[in-house]
Amino acid sequence: MLGAGFVALVDALGERDAPDVAPLRVAGDRFSGVAVRADRLGDDGYRETARRVFGRVTPENELKWEVVHPERGRYDFGPVAKVAEVGPMRGHTLVWHLQNPAWLEQGSFSRDELIAIMRDHIFTVMRRLRNVREWDVVNEAVSDEGPLRDSVWLRGIGPDYIDLAFRFAREADPDARLYYNDYGAEGAGTKSRAVLALLRRLRARGVPVDGVGLQGHVDTKPIPAFDATLDAYVALGLDVVFTEVDVRVDPDAPDLDAQAAQYARMGRACVARPRCRGFVVWGVSDAESWVPEAYPGQGDALLFDDDLRPKPAYDALRRALSGQP
Ligand code: G3I
Repeated sequence: MLGAGFVALVDALGERDAPDVAPLRVAGDRFSGVAVRADRLGDDGYRETARRVFGRVTPENELKWEVVHPERGRYDFGPVAKVAEVGPMRGHTLVWHLQNPAWLEQGSFSRDELIAIMRDHIFTVMRRLRNVREWDVVNEAVSDEGPLRDSVWLRGIGPDYIDLAFRFAREADPDARLYYNDYGAEGAGTKSRAVLALLRRLRARGVPVDGVGLQGHVDTKPIPAFDATLDAYVALGLDVVFTEVDVRVDPDAPDLDAQAAQYARMGRACVARPRCRGFVVWGVSDAESWVPEAYPGQGDALLFDDDLRPKPAYDALRRALSGQP
């Protein structure tokens, strides 16, 4: 019998047990996945939940330039190697406007130099991680208003940095599946119109983009014209992956049923489309979620609560992904 003092001590240390739940399996030949942080993997409950419940892992930050390429020409694959120990990885992300190191953001490079830097990064990272079969090559290139977003890449190279990134990625690993990944593009609106237009232009120019990653950072409100929007991506000949799903609620009065229903809608929409290849949630438990920091007053967006107990959303998503009504 453990004393109350011991139990309190364990609680204070934040030790959690992995939940005794079934893995999330997706009907058909598709995957479930979860974003993982290397610095949390010492927590057994965290690590075991990621390992047992999900089929793939996405490094939440460990492949961003500031981590993997902190100095010009110096790469650090230590953090991402820890994530890779948990399970097969989705690659996130090769070219983005955030989490770039100062040497890149503040350097003054000619266009040709910047292209060479980007090419070296893509080749080095993809060839080192040959077993990663799927990459978010370009992340969030479209602004919420529609035009391409300001970034070191757009400023230094011009709009064709996107074409170049995909072409380099295809050359670096001809068999990998290459994705354009963005948020707020799951439903009808300015953003999805702009993303669809970009993808249509890329495909028309023969740029090797195989799929679109729909991040799925949403609240519980209906996503406008959700099905029609998904079908518009599929009609371009693209695969679809839900890459970063979370459904935020008010933690003081969380509507867990509405949250579960939203997860289930997204899960069912994926299963209903053969071109939807996978469904990834953006974190293991509410305790690690990025949401409260980014959306003050909102949170509790994931499938497991702070103590790794499954929420209604877990069961709703499990059923939806397995093809049950
Ligand atoms: O690395 C520093 C660490 O040294 C420092 O001690 C600590 C103190 O706050 O900050 C650490 O950096 C944080 C980093 O995550 C690593 O934990 C940043 O402050 C924090 O802003 C950063 O947030 C990440 C965010 O991307 C940055 O934009 C989130 O964890 C990550 O979940 C989030 O992921 C993005 C996807 O990549 C793309 N789509 C949107 C999604 C959510 O924003």
